[in-house]
Amino acid sequence: MRDTLSSISHADVATAYARWAPIYDLVFTANMRPGRRAGATAINALAKDREISLLDVGVGTGLELPMFSPQVKITGIDLSEPMLAVARKRVQREGLNNVIALQTMDAMALEFPDAHFDAVIAPYVLTVVPDAHRTLDEMARVVKPGGEIVLVNHIGAEKGLMAALEAWLGRRAAALGWRPEFPWAIIGDWLAKRSDIALVERRKLAPFNLFTLIRLVRH
Ligand SMILES: C[S@@+](CC[C@H](N)C(=O)[O-])C[C@H]1O[C@@H](n2cnc3c(N)ncnc32)[C@H](O)[C@@H]1O
Repeated sequence: MRDTLSSISHADVATAYARWAPIYDLVFTANMRPGRRAGATAINALAKDREISLLDVGVGTGLELPMFSPQVKITGIDLSEPMLAVARKRVQREGLNNVIALQTMDAMALEFPDAHFDAVIAPYVLTVVPDAHRTLDEMARVVKPGGEIVLVNHIGAEKGLMAALEAWLGRRAAALGWRPEFPWAIIGDWLAKRSDIALVERRKLAPFNLFTLIRLVRH
C-alpha cells in the first residue's frame, strides 16, 4: 500500500506545528504519555549495561526526553523550529545532560551517515510525515545492524464506525498536522519489502488501545 491516503506536505506540517507549539504540551502530555513511556522503556532496556546512541525522530517539544536513562545519549531532530525551541527550554530546565543535540532536519532526508545510531525512536511521527516509507527507509539506513527502531503510532481502524470517523477526520489531515486513518498495511507493506528488518513486537497501548508500540530490528 502506498502511503498517500490523505495528503500532507512539509508546508502543512510546518504551519500546523508552528500553531501547535505553544499549546502542544497542554493538549498532548497526559493522553500520549503511556506510548512515550512504553517507547522509552524499550530503549532503556537496550542501555542497561552500556551507553547507547539514540536518534529521536520528530522529537517535537521533547516530552519523551526526560524518560530516557542517562546511559541513552540522544540526538533529536524535527522539521518544526518552534517545537524544537520548546524542547531546548525543557532540556535546559530539567538538566538533561544526555541530550547531545537537537537539530532542525527532515526525517525523510536524514543528514547522518549509514549505521550511525544504536537505536532510533519515533513517537507519534509516522502518521505526520508526508511519506512514511521514505521515513522508515531513512530510519533503517541510520540504525546500526542489530539496532532497534521503536515506533509509537495510532494505527487506523480497518472497518466500522471508528474507520468512518478516521476517514472523515483524514480529510482535515493537512490542518490537523496528522493523518488519523493510517492503516497497518503501510508498515506491513514496507516490512514485506525489507528482508533486513524484522518485526519483534507489536502491542496495543493505553488509553483505550488507541496507540501501538512497534519494535523493529535491523539485521
Ligand atoms: C505529534 S508530534 C510528536 C512529538 C513528540 N515525539 C511527542 O511524542 O510528543 C510529531 C512531530 O513530528 C514532526 N515532523 C513532522 N514531519 C516531519 C519531518 N518530515 N521531519 C521531521 N519532523 C517531522 C512535527 O514537527 C512534530 O513535532
